[in-house]
Amino acid sequence: MAGDTFTRLSLTMPRALLKRLDALVRRKGYANRSRAVADLVEAGLVAHEARRGQEPIAGTITLVYDHHKRDLQARLTDIQHDHEGLVIAVMHVHLDHHHCMEVIAVRGRSARIHRLADALATVKGVQHAKLTVTTTRKEQKQ
Ligand code: NI
Repeated sequence: MAGDTFTRLSLTMPRALLKRLDALVRRKGYANRSRAVADLVEAGLVAHEARRGQEPIAGTITLVYDHHKRDLQARLTDIQHDHEGLVIAVMHVHLDHHHCMEVIAVRGRSARIHRLADALATVKGVQHAKLTVTTTRKEQKQ
């Protein structure tokens, strides 16, 4: 938002919602409501744009799986190769005796990233899968 011009606006919202907003402002240590509301709107827009399809996005896909399951790791690797150009980096963590965690950094068109995440999440033996989307937008938070 650096370099942006700011517009003042007045909002109406239910009192109970405002109380929750103020609690969030205090908890997170925001200087004022404006910055908190801007961050919430930004997060909402990022999530919305992520579903639209052609927006360029970046993010991580986190997987947890039982590495004793036959061929599971090979299947996950095959899928990543099938979705060429989306995977930037992979971090593999041996969580405990049974479980591996893979954090896959991805970048590309939203629809393709979501297809990759869905393909990985639905492999038999994957116990947890979560796509976290961020934005490649140039502007910086002030
Ligand atoms: Ni492992």
